[in-house]
Amino acid sequence: MIGATKDGVPISVTGLGARVPDRIVTNDELARHVDTTNEWIIERTGIRERRMASEEEALSDVALPACRDALAQAGIDGKDIDLLIVATVTPDMTFPSTGAILADRLGAVAAAAYDLSAGCTGFMYALAQAYGMLAAGLARRALVVGGDVLSRILDWEDRSTLILFGDGAGAAVLEEAREHGFLGFELGADGAGGANLWLPGSGSRLFEEPDQYVKMNGREVYKFATRILVQSAQDLLDRCGVAVEEVDVYVPHQANIRIIDHATKKLGIPSERVVVNVDRYGNTSSGSIPLALADAAKEGRLGPGKLVLMTGMGAGLTWGSALLRWTGENIA
Ligand SMILES: CC(C)(COP(=O)(O)OP(=O)(O)OC[C@H]1O[C@@H](n2cnc3c(N)ncnc32)[C@H](O)[C@@H]1OP(=O)(O)O)[C@@H](O)C(=O)NCCC(=O)NCCS
Repeated sequence: MIGATKDGVPISVTGLGARVPDRIVTNDELARHVDTTNEWIIERTGIRERRMASEEEALSDVALPACRDALAQAGIDGKDIDLLIVATVTPDMTFPSTGAILADRLGAVAAAAYDLSAGCTGFMYALAQAYGMLAAGLARRALVVGGDVLSRILDWEDRSTLILFGDGAGAAVLEEAREHGFLGFELGADGAGGANLWLPGSGSRLFEEPDQYVKMNGREVYKFATRILVQSAQDLLDRCGVAVEEVDVYVPHQANIRIIDHATKKLGIPSERVVVNVDRYGNTSSGSIPLALADAAKEGRLGPGKLVLMTGMGAGLTWGSALLRWTGENIA
């Protein structure tokens, strides 16, 4: 799916929030469980540490403060939200949805609330969906949440996956803005590559060897990631008639610094325009892009009129890009 939105109503982000669990897990701590080293992890991934939820914390607990911050920044209450989408592959439980749980905890009694599953690309899919409902006039104010507690589905004996992921969540309020807003989206899926990053035995398909942990073919995912981050962004920029030089802030999925560097170079985006926090949080799956956006906002990099390019990719295999002219309205 690809489309430019230039004739639509200006829908934009008016509030942002992000949260990671308190517990910091260093590379050295992981090296006590699997055969790896701090040096190997930093050199091959750029990750120095990640956060992991405590035993008491589920996704809704991690995401709730992020949602509250996003609502406060937009200057609205839970009751003002009429759409709440949670992008995740690690909901509190299969049902009720984490969307419904969060709506209840936020007092969002008027909201349609549900979960959306698109792997690490979930937040991009959710943004596009919220945009569509707002632009069509079906909803007025949406809360889009992206987050995962991936530590729950990591195999502490598999060094190739254990070192990559962390927990975290971010949230964005979307509503009609006076000017600027989303310019377009590109989303895709290739189920044929699904078995390169999967959780067999987690649903209704029966497997001889069901698994409760993530399984990954790292080399194949790496090849996919380096190709798709570039392709998706280029296709969207072309469709929107925007030159890459115009991009002020580039927010790629935070999977691996080598993948980010490759995409940045291929696209021709100067490194000072790229948002990177994979060193501190690892790959937080659906939380990755909203956490990076919130970081960029905190650093004062998202002023009014700035052009923001976001691209995610992940399990599915899925990918997605969005181009957004930042409003600055209500954003601290
Ligand atoms: C996983 C990844 C970091 C591995 O890095 P790499 O440079 O490609 O490493 P390779 O897969 O070529 O493996 C090189 C060697 O390191 C080993 N290795 C893998 N993980 C290791 C670890 N944590 N510590 C030490 N050695 C490790 C491998 O077993 C392999 O050994 P071998 O040559 O004896 O078989 C990289 O492939 C990657 O980032 N892939 C994408 C993963 C991703 O982003 N997934 C989520 C998408 S949303």
